Amino acid sequence: MSQEIENHDNHNDSDNRPFSSVMARYMSRRRMLQGSLGLAAATLFTDFGLGGVIRQAGAEPRRRLTLGFDSLPGSMTDGIVVPEGYIAQVLVPWGTPMDGSTAGWQQDMHMTPAFQARAMGMHHDGMYHFALDTQHASRDFLLAINHEYIDQSVLWAPQNGPTNNDEGARPADEVRTEINAHGVAVVRLRRDDQGHWAPVVDDSRNRRITSATPIELSGPVRGTPWVITAWSPDGTRIRGTNNNCACGYTPWGTYLTCEENWPEVFINRGELTADQARLGINGERGRYGWESADDGEQGEFSRFDNTPQGDDPARDYRNEARGFGYIVEIDPYDADSTIYKRTALGRFRHEGCWPGRVVEGMPLTFYTGHDSRNEYIYKFVTNKRWQQSDANRPGETYDRQAIGASYLDNGTLYVARFDADGEGEWLPLTVDAVIPKGEHKGRRLGELFEDQAGIIINTCDAADLMGATPMDRPEWGTVDPQSGMVYMTLTNNSRRTDEESSASFTGDGSDVSAMGSGYATAPVNAANPRPDNTYGHIIRWQEREDDPTRMRWEPFVFGGSPDDQDATNPSGLTDVNAFASPDGLWFDERDNGEGILWIETDNGLDKGRENAVANMTNDQVLAVVPGAMSEEGKPAINARNQAQLKRFAIGPNEAEVTGIFATPDRTALFINIQHPANWPAADTDDATQTAQGQVRPRSSTVVIQKRDGGRVGV
Ligand code: FEO
Ligand code: CA
Ligand code: CA
Repeated sequence: MSQEIENHDNHNDSDNRPFSSVMARYMSRRRMLQGSLGLAAATLFTDFGLGGVIRQAGAEPRRRLTLGFDSLPGSMTDGIVVPEGYIAQVLVPWGTPMDGSTAGWQQDMHMTPAFQARAMGMHHDGMYHFALDTQHASRDFLLAINHEYIDQSVLWAPQNGPTNNDEGARPADEVRTEINAHGVAVVRLRRDDQGHWAPVVDDSRNRRITSATPIELSGPVRGTPWVITAWSPDGTRIRGTNNNCACGYTPWGTYLTCEENWPEVFINRGELTADQARLGINGERGRYGWESADDGEQGEFSRFDNTPQGDDPARDYRNEARGFGYIVEIDPYDADSTIYKRTALGRFRHEGCWPGRVVEGMPLTFYTGHDSRNEYIYKFVTNKRWQQSDANRPGETYDRQAIGASYLDNGTLYVARFDADGEGEWLPLTVDAVIPKGEHKGRRLGELFEDQAGIIINTCDAADLMGATPMDRPEWGTVDPQSGMVYMTLTNNSRRTDEESSASFTGDGSDVSAMGSGYATAPVNAANPRPDNTYGHIIRWQEREDDPTRMRWEPFVFGGSPDDQDATNPSGLTDVNAFASPDGLWFDERDNGEGILWIETDNGLDKGRENAVANMTNDQVLAVVPGAMSEEGKPAINARNQAQLKRFAIGPNEAEVTGIFATPDRTALFINIQHPANWPAADTDDATQTAQGQVRPRSSTVVIQKRDGGRVGV
């Protein structure tokens, strides 16, 4: 997601001390604590063990898996760059029909609600693959993919932009088209014997889910007064899923799509409720003015206006936005299946949702982060223990959502506190959780929020009160399925100050004066040690097996540039691996317990090409074999070993690179190119898809393969 729909107000330019002094202070504190307590980085791996990495006392780990390509120099072109010996192919760009119809996309076409409802949406983001059968899983599968948001200037290019965007009534069919360009697509992809991929455009499982598709609410919020609307007086349903950013999947074969920057499509002209204030609903006009269109049936457009119209919530749409901010579960195998919002996993600006290690007889864990400045990292632990008999049976049609309900509707939601000594605690967000400090010290969350539904609607406020650690905008996470090690990107934070400028802040909830406030700014802490964190970083943690409320964490890598003399570059990055604003992330399990950590970035447009990395390269995909990288007092990737982090691919100008997985045989890596400026070219076999002249840009999926058909990355 770029600056297009992100809220960038209140950029903090206070006279912070140089990065270097703050960084040095935190890293030396970590060194001291490690020395005295024997905790954290150096022991994260040796205590828990990583299969396949042989490590002896005092010896460097012996690696079996190595990256087999040369790290790329930076690129700033309208094309895609991949290493020597690789080829990229563009797939399913915005506007690709998915229903077998012959009328296809044209550069100058006027988009309509009907066409957009059966064609790929805009701004591809998170995605995952679902095998149709085990034998052909690497050459024939269903792709489930998010369409995060829209670019109105591109959508309405033939008419030179949207109508009445800033004032006056939007035309109903323009709004319907925009709503249909959001959401999720399920589309079958197949590879031929020559290695060429194509969508199966008439497959019966192809499906579009939009910001108008009826969806059931499930879990604690379902059927409560919080979500009563004129369209659903019993509070059980809502229309649409919106601003679906990253994703997840379940071991029972469903897709999880995650609602991120949805608050801005809603307005409330009256007094804001605490949850509206906390999440950023406000104003007279929504992001695209959808509420302004002449209303269709059953509040088709007026539902985006949450202003109360009287005394009865069953007669207006004051609660409409409370049906958003969730993890949404889709069965990709059945185009008619009911979709559920799994409210037990919390309500906020969800980036994604990633499963932890799957072990027979043990509860399942799902990690999820809130991508806003100074917001939190969460996990959900199921009550039900995993049973292998629930595992996905590819290609079969049966009630996967019943299995989903049994895991995702009952469990415990936790929020993370990261302590300076490398320890961390998961704080339960339950009615019986006791507030540790501040004005409400000693009270239970249930006393303030009444029940679990009240906690879920106000997830962020409950997390404030429990003393969670405000983070530098959590984006994607991923889990090493063997070790259970969790990685998470913290993309950047312009509202992170040094300690002196926020002296009253304690970070334990006691600074929150009212529900619905949160932390506009927060000082540096051990897990987020850079004020005005321009480049972002990645942390990782390992759960303690004997206590689900404890973990140990360490910094994994810091973004940075060798060209920025004013900033620290703690990971010692160079011209061929400098990065900023890490976003997408995927742990790609390979041989003997080792794997490749793939990192994607969203820097160029997000930071307006203001930083040194954005002047060096477009957004990119990097790879590293993280194995047992670890050094006391330093981030795991540091000046001594940074060469192991390699730049694998680079996107076209102004595009973010996001969404990532590979086929089970690892011969094809799929990524998404979102919001390019002038790409892809039409009608060219050029692998870079470089446009000649100006084209109407289209977000697209890209598949990267070796010319010799071998495994990607090695
Ligand atoms: Fe949609 Fe946080 O990226
Ligand atoms: Ca981002
Ligand atoms: Ca993202």
